[in-house]
Amino acid sequence: MATATLPQAQPKDTFPINGTDYIEFYCGNAKQAAHFYRTAFGFRWAAYRGPETGVRDRASYLLEQGKVRFVLTSPLGPEGPIAEHIHRHGDGVKDLAFWVDDVREAWRKAVDRGAKSAAEPHIRTDEHGEIVTAAIHTYGETIHSLVERRNYRGLFMPGFVAVEPRYNPVPVGLQYVDHCVGNVELGKMNEWVKFYETVLGFYNLLSFDDKTISTEYSALMSKVMSNGNGRIKFPINEPAAGRKKSQIEEYLDFYRGPGVQHIAMATDDIVGTVAALRDRGIDFLRVPGSYYDTVLDRVGKIDEDLGPLRDLGILIDRDDEGYLLQVFTKPVEDRPTLFYEIIQRKGAKSFGAGNFKALFEALEREQALRGNL
Ligand code: FE2
Repeated sequence: MATATLPQAQPKDTFPINGTDYIEFYCGNAKQAAHFYRTAFGFRWAAYRGPETGVRDRASYLLEQGKVRFVLTSPLGPEGPIAEHIHRHGDGVKDLAFWVDDVREAWRKAVDRGAKSAAEPHIRTDEHGEIVTAAIHTYGETIHSLVERRNYRGLFMPGFVAVEPRYNPVPVGLQYVDHCVGNVELGKMNEWVKFYETVLGFYNLLSFDDKTISTEYSALMSKVMSNGNGRIKFPINEPAAGRKKSQIEEYLDFYRGPGVQHIAMATDDIVGTVAALRDRGIDFLRVPGSYYDTVLDRVGKIDEDLGPLRDLGILIDRDDEGYLLQVFTKPVEDRPTLFYEIIQRKGAKSFGAGNFKALFEALEREQALRGNL
C-alpha cells in the first residue's frame, strides 16, 4: 500500500526554491509543435527567440497558460547538443527549471552536495535588467536550470522578444504544473531519491511498491519527492519485474534512457478542460465503462455528476484529505514517451493510487497495440 513516510513533520528547507520557472522541450520542429500546443492545449504564444532576435543556433517559442510556462526549442542545424538530443530521444523534456533567489549560492550548494554541473552561473542582460542562470544534471540527459529574476523586469529572459500573434486560441483552463514524473532504470529509483534529498533538500512524500502498482503483466515502483515548500513534486518511477514488459521499460526503450514521462497540469474545472481538449483533438486513455459502475462505492460522495466524468473517461480517487479527478492523454509524440495528465484536486494531496490498476491495464492495451507488451 501507499505509505506516507513523512506526513506532517517536514525537514527544514535546505534548498529554497520558489517554484517551477519553466519547462523546456527540445523538439524537431518547434514552430509546428508550438502550433499544436496553442491549438490543442490552449497555450498563448508570448515570446520568441531565434535568428531574428540575434540567436544564431536555435529557435525557441515561449508558451503560457495560467502559471504554466513551456519553452519549445529547435536547433537550426544538425550539429550540437540540441540536435543530438532530438536524434537520440525524439521530442522530449530537456529542462525542468527552478526559480531561486540566488543562483550563484544555489548552484554552489548543489555542486558542493554532489550535483554534476551542466552550466556555471552566467549573467545575461538586456534593457530590462539581468537574469542569472546556471544548471545541474539530473536523470538521463535532463537538467534543472536555476533561474534568478530579482534584477529583471522583462517578460521572460534576455534573447526573447514579446510577440502579439493574431491567432490566439481560447485557453482550456490549465493553471499550474501539479507534478512532473521521471522514469529511471531498474534499480536506480533510490539513487535519484537520494539525489533529490541530499542535493536539493526534497523529501519523500509517498512511496508505492510493486504490489500497489501491478497488473497481471507488469509492475513499477514509484516514490514521490517534494521540495521543501511543497510547490514542486517529482514522482520517480522504476520498472519492476512482471510477466511482460513494464510500461516504464517501453518508455526507456523508446526514449533511449531515463527522462520525463508525464507532466500533470491542474485545472479547477476538469470537465470543461477535458471536454475542450477532446474537441481540439487530444486523445485520452480510456478505462472500461464498468469502472464507473463501482467507483462511487470506493470513493464515496463527490460534487460532480458521474455522467460527464464517464463520458470523458475522468478517473476519481480519494485519500484522507479529500478526493481528486484525473485523466491521462496518450503520448503526444510518435514514440511512446511523454504524455500529459490533467488533474483537479478537491482536497486530496495524493496521486490517484486507487486508479493505478485500471489505468495501467488501459496503458497495456495501448502497449499491446504497439507490439511492445
Ligand atoms: Fe501523475
